[in-house]
Amino acid sequence: MAEKKRTKVGAGRRMSGRKSPLPKRGKSSTSRSGTGAEEAPKRSPLPPLAAPLSAYLAAPGLEDELQRELGDVVHRHGRLLLAPGKPRSSIWSQDVWLDTKLARIDSIGDAAKVLRGIQRNWVGYSHHEHRRMTLLSKRLPPIKERVWPFPCSLPDADLGAYTLLDRNTLLYSPTCRSPFPNGEVRFVDNLNPPSRAYRKLWEVFTLCQVMPQRGDRCIDMGATPGGWTWVLAELGANIRSVDKAMLHPDVAALPNVKVKLQSAFSVDPKLVENPYDWFFSDVICYPERLLAMVQRWLDAGAARRFVCTIKFQSKTDYKTIDAFAKIPGSRMLHLHHNRHELTWIKLDDELDI
Ligand SMILES: C[S@@+](CC[C@H](N)C(=O)[O-])C[C@H]1O[C@@H](n2cnc3c(N)ncnc32)[C@H](O)[C@@H]1O
Repeated sequence: MAEKKRTKVGAGRRMSGRKSPLPKRGKSSTSRSGTGAEEAPKRSPLPPLAAPLSAYLAAPGLEDELQRELGDVVHRHGRLLLAPGKPRSSIWSQDVWLDTKLARIDSIGDAAKVLRGIQRNWVGYSHHEHRRMTLLSKRLPPIKERVWPFPCSLPDADLGAYTLLDRNTLLYSPTCRSPFPNGEVRFVDNLNPPSRAYRKLWEVFTLCQVMPQRGDRCIDMGATPGGWTWVLAELGANIRSVDKAMLHPDVAALPNVKVKLQSAFSVDPKLVENPYDWFFSDVICYPERLLAMVQRWLDAGAARRFVCTIKFQSKTDYKTIDAFAKIPGSRMLHLHHNRHELTWIKLDDELDI
């Protein structure tokens, strides 16, 4: 990806000119009873060229969740799902193609000409026709696979996406919701934190371009072994880390970290005198139990901003997802670093992200 002008990232406000790629508030339909969802076959016939379509890229293994959310998928190309009409807000898509077009092509040269005639930066999503996809990518300007430092601003160059639906059908979009190739943000690894979970928090803060400021008060529920607490401590926040298990000693020893060895559910938000600036939860628990805890904290006005992982067992709990989505000011997304889980975020209402 071509690197564009970078702005310095601060905290508590929007950090770059580029619009946040987060799904917009209140527009996502998380549950669809539409019958089309389960019925669309995996290799359906190609949609007609003239039909206005949008393309949605699911995270690996979460294609069914995305299909259920969209409800009216007309074609499934691996993880790329096509649905009629303009792009909609979608929590289960890793990326959304914002201006999807189809073109009949006679050759790879044809396809390259179409794409190069629009802009420089294109990333491919290859499902089949892998050899032709490779040939096509070689005919396009190279895109550097970047790993990003944290913090960083969002790249602001338009990045288009394309695929070959079959030998002669190019599907492409000059703009995508995510500024990262196929919605995958990769960070320069850091070996200091005691778990890989820190990458989820880095991704949230990068996509929102908002993060705790020095001196912010945070409560980190389910903090052990301490990846999230480490991220927050590095940002200069003061953290109360709550877990039934011991935090990694190196993180527990940090001067801005206070450890509470207890259940997250037994912390009474009504007893919080000075609301926390940030509430974090990565607790392993049923989604409805997390929801009940979040509701108690909201009702008590005990925290201003929330970042919580909603973790699913084998089944996705759509009812609780809907309940989370209805909380005013909510955003929900599936991070590149999420597994079978979603990240629920509630930031200050005045932030337009
Ligand atoms: C996925 S880990 C959290 C990882 C952590 N965010 C990090 O960055 O290292 C989930 C944690 O939830 C904790 N947990 C499970 N039930 C809990 C409860 N009732 N109260 C507090 N923590 C709990 C587990 O002990 C475990 O440490």
